[in-house]
Amino acid sequence: GSHILSVNQLDLDAINTIFNVAHKMTPYALREKRTKVLDGAILGNLFFEPSTRTRVSFGCAFNLLGGAVRETVGMGASSLSKGESLYDTARVLSTYSDVIAMRHPDAYSVEEFSKGSRVPVINGGDGSNEHPTQALLDLFTIQKELAHAGRDISGMHIALVGDLKYGRTVHSLSRLLCMYKDIQFTLISPSELAMPDYVIADIEKAGHKITITEQLEGNLNQADILYLTRIQEERFPSQEEANKYRGKFRLNHAIYTQHCKSNTVIMHPLPRDSREAANELDNDLNSHPSLAIFRQADNGLLIRMALFALTLGVENQLEKYECPVNW
Ligand code: CP
Repeated sequence: GSHILSVNQLDLDAINTIFNVAHKMTPYALREKRTKVLDGAILGNLFFEPSTRTRVSFGCAFNLLGGAVRETVGMGASSLSKGESLYDTARVLSTYSDVIAMRHPDAYSVEEFSKGSRVPVINGGDGSNEHPTQALLDLFTIQKELAHAGRDISGMHIALVGDLKYGRTVHSLSRLLCMYKDIQFTLISPSELAMPDYVIADIEKAGHKITITEQLEGNLNQADILYLTRIQEERFPSQEEANKYRGKFRLNHAIYTQHCKSNTVIMHPLPRDSREAANELDNDLNSHPSLAIFRQADNGLLIRMALFALTLGVENQLEKYECPVNW
């Protein structure tokens, strides 16, 4: 029943509970079964910044549990653009909703919004700060992918590549990984886009090993997980500034084959920048079995279904409200 604003609110027990419920969601996500457990409930889906996966998967996750979605997309569609505060917006919109998912370009804005909300608020990304539901789906994916190779999260080696300064997904994921043991981190970025010191401090405090480098090639041969990120151009002071870094790290089939272990799992939160100037993850890997990027997105639906069920306290009532699949 509480807000989900940061991965710092979670511990291993909470993560395992979320993952167990996510596994239970599989037949409903695949439309093999149908439940109306959230019949009558309303999700306020507030996206004040562009999104494809997070916005649609929050909405569909709620629909697949039988609930309805009321969406607000873009600052211009809201009276925030007339100077209304996040607090007042939350007071009003939470009257109409049972739970709210929100994305906003400013760090800590979702937390500020939550103070005015009478219902649970889930952070769908607040500026370059955090993206907790993405980190959960990333961790869930890592656990599943490594399990295929008989491996565990503890003891693994992860390489995080690209814009580690503005990339909120790597901030949240790194902190979740601090709950596990003996992880080796290789942080690959231009020095100007390095992982923030406060995240590095958390990783060091957890006792994990860190290698920091500006070179992609030559630093991938130990990685079990290779996690690429886009240059977050919308966070830079200017397009020219962002362009300095776009295209700096590119992974394609030839580089993967030459520099990675044969079963290194390739991840990316998406969107990947497919324009020629950037192209950090080439289409020539699209049918490679180690490319997990679309499995991440699939897992996002399960994780968000689980978070709604747990937040609204219906995780044990899915079967009770089952009904026939009509299509
Ligand atoms: N991974 C992710 O947050 O994607 P969207 O920005 O499309 O939601």
